[in-house]
Amino acid sequence: MNLILLGPPGAGKGTQAKKLTDERGLVQLSTGDMLRAEVASGSALGVEAKKIMDAGQLVSDAIVIGMIDGRTDKPDTAKGVIFDGFPRTVAQAEALDAMLAKKGKKIDAVIELKVDDAALIERISGRFTCAKCGTGYHDKFARPKKDGICDKCGSTEFTRRADDNAETVKARLVAYRQQTAPILPYYQAKGLLHSVDGMAAMPEVAGQIDRALDGVKG
Ligand code: AP5
Repeated sequence: MNLILLGPPGAGKGTQAKKLTDERGLVQLSTGDMLRAEVASGSALGVEAKKIMDAGQLVSDAIVIGMIDGRTDKPDTAKGVIFDGFPRTVAQAEALDAMLAKKGKKIDAVIELKVDDAALIERISGRFTCAKCGTGYHDKFARPKKDGICDKCGSTEFTRRADDNAETVKARLVAYRQQTAPILPYYQAKGLLHSVDGMAAMPEVAGQIDRALDGVKG
């Protein structure tokens, strides 16, 4: 089964993708994570991408389409993929359909996480990650069991994303509304779109996604 998780910054795409990965054995492909890995590596692409990401704008379609094309050739994607943060423009959605068709694959469902802007800003401003194993936390909604210690690996080092500041978040929300939201009618017209209430608590959102996927063949 190949799924897309669609929603504004902070909607919970990464949170729900990790849960689906654990429970269904699908591979999470996050273009945001791939771009952050390029930035961390100091590659030419990473240096270019960092400027755009720090401004809250979208990296070029050609770059992210190329990254996803290469990644969906890998054998671990055979059982299915969760696309997290991709596609983000109608051009990326069209390219994804064409790329999957060439590989004899298709998108089986698109899950839209609907969340109010005020909640998005609260979620993004409280988010932090274990610097060692990448487990995600939140100051209010998902604290480690023992303050300052990662539940999973015991590390005491945590990081916050450079683009999780008030000014960049505003630009990311504008980019979502102007460039990404137009994808919704594209998938609605194909009968693939399932909208869930992303304002609910994390387990309830997961339950809504499970119920939406129950009727999906893939
Ligand atoms: P990307 O990394 O994709 O970021 P994003 O879309 O802005 O999404 P986030 O990762 O911020 O949020 P999320 O929805 O995953 O929320 P999360 O689960 O963490 O992209 C970053 C940048 O890279 C872009 O701005 C762009 O520049 C570039 N880029 C990436 N892909 C691109 C593409 N395809 N094309 C062009 N450019 C691209 O949750 C947030 C917090 O809320 C967490 O702390 C979590 O614990 C908490 N939380 C989650 N669910 C709930 C809940 N139900 N209730 C309470 N708290 C919750």
